[in-house]
Parts: sequence; structure tokens; C-alpha cells
Amino acid sequence: MAAEAEAEDGPEWDQFFSDCAPPPNAAASVRALGEFAAQHAEQCRRLVLVTSGGTKVPLESRTVRYLDNFSSGWRGAVSAEHFLQLGYAVVFLHRQRSLFPFSRRYSGLNLLDALKAVLDVGTGCWRVEADQAALPGIVPTLQRYAAVREAGLLLPLEFSTLSDYLYLLRAAAQALHHNGPKAMFYLAAAVSDFFIPASEMPEHKIQSGANPLQLSMQMVPKMLTPLVKDWAPQAFVTSFKLETDSSQLLARARKALATYRHQVVVANTLETRRVYVLIVTEDSQVDIKLSENEVQQHHEIEEKIVKHLSECHTNFIEKSKNPT
Ligand code: PMT
Repeated sequence: MAAEAEAEDGPEWDQFFSDCAPPPNAAASVRALGEFAAQHAEQCRRLVLVTSGGTKVPLESRTVRYLDNFSSGWRGAVSAEHFLQLGYAVVFLHRQRSLFPFSRRYSGLNLLDALKAVLDVGTGCWRVEADQAALPGIVPTLQRYAAVREAGLLLPLEFSTLSDYLYLLRAAAQALHHNGPKAMFYLAAAVSDFFIPASEMPEHKIQSGANPLQLSMQMVPKMLTPLVKDWAPQAFVTSFKLETDSSQLLARARKALATYRHQVVVANTLETRRVYVLIVTEDSQVDIKLSENEVQQHHEIEEKIVKHLSECHTNFIEKSKNPT
């Protein structure tokens, strides 16, 4: 499978992958992906790969410094929960230590302030008690998480660097090949467009000195091209487009669709991304918003995004059964 994919990836991707080492969790991840995809294909369940968080770009091979970006992983973690709610199996490809489904509600909390060691006088043993007031909604959250784990519906996979992310994305796409149009890609991670090839990276820590640091970085080839064309040609692919200028959203989303020929672009801006997105397909554009009232009631825009996309996915699956 890997050799087949390499032959199809094209020179840019051959070059990229031949220049970087596989991530430390590569073998275990590939195995887990294969089993997860096969299990849900057998159960005819829809499956979504949610990518989440930013990617680190190392500046030295024994890395002390790296370039990073703003992404917290909120979009991915919250969306994963809503996909699970709709009955999808979820591969959650996330940046190490970014937000995680369910536990993301308690991410700002110092756990030690919510737990207490209590001596049981009867047995003489210590036990740990949680202060439920410090953990709002903890009982239903634990119940939902346990149900998801028990049903084998969530496969978390971690990455840290840009090259780890791309390696695992390709591995996931190859595994999800078996799920055909029932597989969705939801590419919410904020992926670096620039990197320093391993062969051009200094081995040791860059020394500070009298001169300012000058970096020369290369463009990362766009992985949407092989993903749509070669790695997962039957899947339903949703990419995200991030801009800082809202007047560019629609044009950039349309350009991405025309270039990569996938199904959906969710366009958002840095400042308004929690309350507004524009969902663009070949023949539609839909505004998704949260009202003031919804914001005050702690609604999450991801619920609306995921609901809309799952409907688009249903149509896509139906069409693939009866192509005209
Ligand atoms: O994590 P949060 O803080 O909640 O923020 C969420 C988010 C803003 C990160 C998310 O909503 C979002 O917009 N994610 C995509 C950000 C991004 O990378 O946008 P872009 O315009 O730079 O890239 C567009 C698309 O190209 C992306 O789907 C990306 O997966 C893809 N890409 C990027 C680099 C690359 N080498 N190849 C690619 O195909």
C-alpha cells in the first residue's frame, strides 16, 4: 500500500516524504487506523477524520526552537464531539496537548483544585474525591465519554510537527480508502505552508550572536492535491480556509474548490471564527452564524457546521450510489 501511494504521490510529495523521518508512533498508528477503518466499514458506519490544532516547524534537527501558530484545537475538538453525537466514528488527528473532545471543557482548570484526598476511617485507605462544583457538567461528560470509548467510536492520534501530521494524514487517507464515500475528511488543523527540509536544517541549537537570525524556508506542497486525487478519491473532503480579511473569504474559498476539486470549503476569519463561517460548495454558499443570544447561552457554532456538513455528506453518499 505504501509503495503504491508513493508511486502516485508525484515528485513533490516523494521529495517531501523522502526527506523526513516517520513519526515515533507511525507503526502503531497505521495498525490502529487499519483496524478502526475495517471495523466501521464492516458496520457500514460513517467515519470522519477530524484534523485539529497547529503544526510545529522545527528550526534545528535536535530541536530547541520551532515555529508554531495560533490554533488551539477548539474547532477540531468540539466538532469531533458533534460528529460522535450524530453517530459518526471519529479519527481525531490532533496536535499533542491541544484541546481534546470532552476534556476540553476543563482545560483551563488546575485539576488539583478540583480533587481532594480523603482518609477513609473505616479502611484506613486514602481515596480521591472530586468537587463537582469545580467541574461543571462532569457527570454527563464522563458518561458520554465512557459510552464513546466503550463503543470504540473514537480513535485519537497525536502529532507534533508538520511532517508527523502529513505522514499520519496520508496513512489515515490510505486506511479510510476502504470506507469509500462514507469517509469524510474535516481538515480543521492549521497546517504550516513553510518548512525547512531536514537536509538543510542545522543539527545543533542555532547560536545567538551579533547577527540577526535569517531563515530560508521552502513551500510545503499542498497536500489537498494528492489527498483528493490519489489518497482518498472516493471520500467527502471538507477543507478549511482561514483569512484575516473577510472580504477575501468567498473568492479564496471558490479558488480552493476550483483548484483541488473537492466537495466543501469552510471559510472563516481569525477574529470571527467562533461565531461566523461561510460554507461553500460548487453550487452553494451558506452563512452559518451564532446570534448574540446563542453566544450568551454558550451554543457552539461547530454544532451547526457539523449538522450542515453531515447533510451534505448524506447527499454525497446517495449520489455516489446513483451517479447520473
Ligand atoms: O483551532 P482553533 O483555534 O479553533 O482555530 C480553528 C481554525 C481557524 C484553525 C480552523 O477553523 C481553520 O481555519 N483551519 C484551517 C487553517 C488553514 O490552514 O487555512 P489555510 O488557508 O492556510 O489552508 C487552507 C487549506 O489548505 C487547509 O484545509 C489546509 O489543510 C490545506 N493545506 C495547508 C497546507 C498544506 N501544505 N497543504 C494543504 O493542503
